[in-house]
Amino acid sequence: MKDAAPQTIYLKDYKPFGWIIDDVHLTFRLHPTATRVISRIRFRPDYEVHDRPFMLHGEGLKHISAKVDGHEVTLNHVEGGIEVEVPHAPFNWEAEVEINPQANTALEGLYMSNGMYCTQCEAEGFRKITWYPDRPDVMAQFTVRIESDAEHTPVMLSNGNGLYYEQDNAQSPAPNISIYQDPWPKPAYLFALVAGDLVAHEDTFKTMSGKDVRLSIYVRPGDEHKCAFGMEALKKSMKWDEEVYGREYDLDEFNIVAVDDFNMGAMENKGLNIFNSSCVLASPETATDGNFERIEAIIAHEYFHNWTGNRITCRDWFQLCLKEGLTVFRDAQFTADMRSEPVKRIDDVLALRARQFPEDQGPLSHPVRPESFQEINNFYTATVYEKGAEVIGMLKTLVGDDAYAKALDLYFERHDGQACTIEDWIKVFEDSTGRDLTQFKLWYSQSGTPEVTVREEYEGDTFTLHLTQSSAPTPGQDVKAPQVIPVAVGLLNDNGDEVLPTKILELTEAEQSFSFKGHATRPIPSALRGFSAPVTLTQDIDNARRAFLLAHDTDPFNRWEAGRDLARDSLIGTIVKGTAPNPDYLSGLKTLLRDDRLDPAYRALMLGQPSQSELAGILHKQGHTADPAAIHAATETLRDAKAKAFADLLPDIYAANQVAGPFSPDAEPAGKRSLSNAALSLLTRLDGGEAAEKQYKSAGNMTLQLAAFGALLDAGKGENAVAAFYDQWKDDRLVIDKWFSMQVMFANPEDLATTVTTLTQHADFDWKNPNRFRAVMGVMAAHHAGFNHESGAAYKVLADWLIKLDPVNPQTTARMCSAFQTWKRYDANRQALLKAQLERIAGQDGLSRDTTEMVTRILEA
Ligand code: ARG
Ligand code: ZN
Repeated sequence: MKDAAPQTIYLKDYKPFGWIIDDVHLTFRLHPTATRVISRIRFRPDYEVHDRPFMLHGEGLKHISAKVDGHEVTLNHVEGGIEVEVPHAPFNWEAEVEINPQANTALEGLYMSNGMYCTQCEAEGFRKITWYPDRPDVMAQFTVRIESDAEHTPVMLSNGNGLYYEQDNAQSPAPNISIYQDPWPKPAYLFALVAGDLVAHEDTFKTMSGKDVRLSIYVRPGDEHKCAFGMEALKKSMKWDEEVYGREYDLDEFNIVAVDDFNMGAMENKGLNIFNSSCVLASPETATDGNFERIEAIIAHEYFHNWTGNRITCRDWFQLCLKEGLTVFRDAQFTADMRSEPVKRIDDVLALRARQFPEDQGPLSHPVRPESFQEINNFYTATVYEKGAEVIGMLKTLVGDDAYAKALDLYFERHDGQACTIEDWIKVFEDSTGRDLTQFKLWYSQSGTPEVTVREEYEGDTFTLHLTQSSAPTPGQDVKAPQVIPVAVGLLNDNGDEVLPTKILELTEAEQSFSFKGHATRPIPSALRGFSAPVTLTQDIDNARRAFLLAHDTDPFNRWEAGRDLARDSLIGTIVKGTAPNPDYLSGLKTLLRDDRLDPAYRALMLGQPSQSELAGILHKQGHTADPAAIHAATETLRDAKAKAFADLLPDIYAANQVAGPFSPDAEPAGKRSLSNAALSLLTRLDGGEAAEKQYKSAGNMTLQLAAFGALLDAGKGENAVAAFYDQWKDDRLVIDKWFSMQVMFANPEDLATTVTTLTQHADFDWKNPNRFRAVMGVMAAHHAGFNHESGAAYKVLADWLIKLDPVNPQTTARMCSAFQTWKRYDANRQALLKAQLERIAGQDGLSRDTTEMVTRILEA
């Protein structure tokens, strides 16, 4: 029997808890299969709202006892927890429960990873630890006592400052006790506990007011040499937040712990950030430049949450973008400051188009602030995070940098210590700028990607841009109102000189025109500079104009975008009409590649082209049926054409961008490596893998080794490297993830399903580890031509594994269901195959709430 339909939670139903917590004391008696959690909590009525039954959340708890003011009470079990008769006055709650961390494979609540205890409580994991009002608007001070035996858990950590530590070696087994106190009131989702055999990489940081903070990164013994980079990133983040946002750290210690089994990237628990080990551990031999940059960004992201998320948190989970959109925006600013601003912007737009656009243009489309959900974990999405950050960026563009800084100061001053809403956030900007943001707020409530069109007119000496905006229907939203869209525009003359520096046009209506007077010759517009809004832009221009912008645009983003537009147009031509790659695109690109004044990282990005999945989305929007095989063939043809057209240039670019000396993960050498590796990948199409073979043998770091490995696999000559790579790295879990991924990524489309099936039979395919599962299944789903092969074999492989994983780890299963979100793009045969798999998943007995919600949404729209 299928379980009853999951309950839907609505934003409009929000009600406060009804009680206030004075303080929380928790004692943990750790045991792998029977941990005791004893809670002592002081509650008092919230007299502004006193009409509610006293309800505490709890899930899977073995109840031992519960007392109110010292008297045992009866629990009334209700959906998601308990209700208890309590006095309408302050009272003390004492409860004891037992939980089983070892059996917790969902990795939510208190669980074990490689013999180490750790927690993940966001969003609603704390209810798996003890009875508690597990909602972000209930904030309290926590004191935590951890008791364990010292042999297995010499290190025991929680939030805040360590108050006390004792180990009694006279006894056997030696018991130890650790007490932590967090002076800052916080919601339960920020609670954390870690205990295990860990070693620390330590440092200190002096804050702007002169306080010393002890910094530690805790890892498993053997990983100590992979912490230095993360520590530097942490110190840079702390300094940057002081300098740019005036935010100082507020505890005596700051701890990071690396955990191998983790559903997401990392978690900002107060003073005790817990990281997926893939997002913090790095050494030159084992991590690529991409890994280093991502680690730096995630460390910054979690650190920045201390103010945007922890000191000011969310009233309810519908407000998730309040902390996530803002914190992603802040970490993007940080990366732009540490590295290259245009390169970061292009990377972010690539990610937005790869992940957020398909989401917003398909069955899973939802507003940045959703209005309902069944399982909140399904809403940690590209829309909430990345589009949420774009919305902050637009707000900053509209009000200006100074007004943004003032508004943020007011936000921190007004809301410190509170659980807030998007309304609070918008009000801060309205109050500090005097601007009415009613229409702007639609960015939070309307889903879908707005489409902007630009038409040009030139008459007398007046140049006019006619803009329109519209937005296609999305689930639950048939009709949309016009939004405020900041369109950054610059004007160029025929020589490529700027005749009008970047100006922000505020598009607020469905159709609107903007005129520029006094132009004796017809100017050339460069529109949506810096990708000033998360929209799709349609411009009535030809390839000659795009080639001009590719050669001359003074805005680095739009210059890159012009090349992208040419590549896309060329590829669509090949797919739909069988035309050859556009020679003007190739020659324009060649000129640019030769230009040594341009940053190598930027030139490497120029060499890229739209992904197969992006092309499928564009074709679908244009009313074509996306044929994955034809799309794959066209992208291969274009890459071959590039290799041929740049044949004389590639060896020089490759040679000129080799980096000598000891490895540094900084932006400059990393940029060179990304250009030389991009050149290598094309060279391999000409020399059959000779240069790649050489690079593979001599590589002194993972960036070079992995690129050479990929080039060899791409050339069909990876067999030896597959064996050698495994042999070299079999003891390094994170590198073996790469070994799995690379073989999936470079499989021939027709072999993908069998390649994956073979890999899943490998002894190292530890499918309960989310990183390993994603390294194979996530990469398979991203292999466009192979996953969508007409046989449907890969669809079935993925569905089989999702069905197997769901009872073990619903969260990771549900996230991966998004692989099926684009099913309506394809032909009737593929749609039938996809639908059959989705229905097979949906029909499983006891399917989790998480996965049920995902497959239902995908099937319904
Ligand atoms: N707040 C974390 C971050 O953005 C993400 C944690 C999400 N976890 C979850 N189970 N939904 O850094
Ligand atoms: Zn976050």
